[in-house]
Amino acid sequence: MEVTNVMEYEAIAKQKLPKMVFDYYASGAEDQWTLAENRNAFSRILFRPRILIDVSRIDMTTTVLGFKISMPIMIAPSAMQKMAHPEGELATARAASAAGTIMTLSSWATSSVEEVASTGPGIRFFQLYVYKDRNVVAQLVRRAERAGFKAIALTVDTPRLGRREADIKNRFVLPPYLTLKNFEGLNLGKMDQANDSGLASYVAGQIDRTLSWKDVQWLQTITKLPILVKGVITAEDTRLAIQAGAAGIIVSNHGARQLDYVPATIMALEEVVKAAQGRIPVFLDGGVRRGTDVFKALALGAAGIFIGRPVLFSLAAEGEAGVRKVLQMLREEFELTMALSGCTSLKEITRDHVTTDWDLPRTHPRPLPRL
Ligand SMILES: Cc1cc2nc3c(=O)[nH]c(=O)nc-3n(C[C@H](O)[C@H](O)[C@H](O)COP(=O)(O)O)c2cc1C
Repeated sequence: MEVTNVMEYEAIAKQKLPKMVFDYYASGAEDQWTLAENRNAFSRILFRPRILIDVSRIDMTTTVLGFKISMPIMIAPSAMQKMAHPEGELATARAASAAGTIMTLSSWATSSVEEVASTGPGIRFFQLYVYKDRNVVAQLVRRAERAGFKAIALTVDTPRLGRREADIKNRFVLPPYLTLKNFEGLNLGKMDQANDSGLASYVAGQIDRTLSWKDVQWLQTITKLPILVKGVITAEDTRLAIQAGAAGIIVSNHGARQLDYVPATIMALEEVVKAAQGRIPVFLDGGVRRGTDVFKALALGAAGIFIGRPVLFSLAAEGEAGVRKVLQMLREEFELTMALSGCTSLKEITRDHVTTDWDLPRTHPRPLPRL
């Protein structure tokens, strides 16, 4: 049967993938409240479309950190993509580049920065996890620079791994025929089987729990690349990120895989946008599955969005063609949403094009009580 929306790839991936892999991709932390909320919150935002505007031409292009892309829809970093498909991150890189958009490569990719670069031209960001051994970090950042990556997405919500119970039950571990390719030469590419989640043990052993704002400044002493701070969801941290020299913020709750019961990212977005005061761009990821979701995020002030799981599920289902199709479907849905809302370019998308549950009085007048 023909796939007509992004969400349908999840069921196909579930059929195709080993349970351990599918569960690792799909799961959230603990009660998975935030996982559901990341999606549900979008349904609390409704449109206020404008009509009788010439929408015969629609321009979805935008600029991210100075790089022109075809649409404000980008690819979030997600680990270990070769578990989904033999071509893994290489297929994702090709699909992103064909769509004219940005791919973010995970530190924990099963393809190296050099291998991804060798797929051809494309604008790519590198997601960084900070290891206890800072020589490892410095080497990796240098390799990413040399391989032509244009920015570092520094993930700041993972001093420890969130409690993902499916991974504990499944004793999740990277299959032995794969390695975390960026760390292969550093003897950190393998993951040992553990009594719980092998990844949680790996993180506990290698990732630096002491990471703090001063390390964001340290990072700027070892690289000229702009730094996006990924995982901010409060105004307080937005201000600190700007002070620390961040080039942008990604409002993210790590796909609901870290702290459960944080708000949906789309609910946290406006707080961050207001605190950023237009000084640096604010991006969002988490639960974006429709073109309407993209529009809602932009209306609430995001400069662009990233998608995570849809890439993994479509990769599992159809490889590069699947990821291309996901990007194409989102592009078309987003274009249609713009047309039906009366917007012909991204700058025409405003806060007035949506109404949310949290601005009730203005647009959802309650009936007056009968006297
Ligand atoms: C299987 C999986 C692996 C992920 N791996 C990483 C990672 O290595 N680094 C990182 O910063 N975020 C990682 N993320 C989080 C994503 O970058 C992103 O924040 C999240 O997936 C967005 O939500 P969505 O999946 O609902 O689109 C991962 C997410 C998933 C689902």
